[in-house]
Amino acid sequence: MQKKKNIIITIDGPAGAGKSTVTHDVAQKLGIPYLDTGAIYRSVAFICHKNGVSPNNEPALVKTLKNFKITITSDKILANNIDVTKEIRTHEMDQLVSPYAANATVRANLLDLQRSQAKNGLVADGRDMGTCVFPDADLKIFLTATAETRAKRRFLERQAKGQNPNFDEILKDVIRRDDYDMNREIAPLKPALGAWILDSSDMTQDEVTEKIVAVAKKLMQE
Ligand code: CDP
Repeated sequence: MQKKKNIIITIDGPAGAGKSTVTHDVAQKLGIPYLDTGAIYRSVAFICHKNGVSPNNEPALVKTLKNFKITITSDKILANNIDVTKEIRTHEMDQLVSPYAANATVRANLLDLQRSQAKNGLVADGRDMGTCVFPDADLKIFLTATAETRAKRRFLERQAKGQNPNFDEILKDVIRRDDYDMNREIAPLKPALGAWILDSSDMTQDEVTEKIVAVAKKLMQE
């Protein structure tokens, strides 16, 4: 396919809506880069937690963020040169990440890092991609599904990774984290103005990907 334009697509939505998989597949089909911003917030939380830095310890947070380095490749995430690929996607990290992500210092420090990835077009997934980080994006999507559907997907995903997930705990976490992310002061989770609200409860991830790719292809040729 002839790429005519460096398109920016944002995919925001609640926990476990399938954003990561869909974003990855959309990027691959369109031949443009993919940015998983949840992985960045999870990596910050992982490093802070490992070093005993709480989300309320402002001086220590500033210092940690000053030295924070992240390298994301197709199959690995290195935070401060530590391979955190698996560790950031555990139930423990699900429970720890949101208070770090609600912190103003953390969010401000990660803005440039995220925007600098968009030079050749981008598909980015997160909570505030369309509202704050890329407000001028060409296509903004709010991908959602019922909490039960999302918890079930997360349960199967964790099982496939060889973890030993508990459905009720995952469901509780999904609801708790959405509530935290939606009600924080800075960059709360909400659909961006003009966002396409896509409820994937009764769709497969491939169907979601196909729908987004079809619209994006049209935009890229305009
Ligand atoms: O994969 P899942 O939907 O469970 O979450 P994620 O995308 O990996 O994001 C983990 C957490 O990071 C979220 O619950 C938010 O608290 C935070 N986050 C954020 O605040 N802003 C973003 N752009 C991405 C993630």
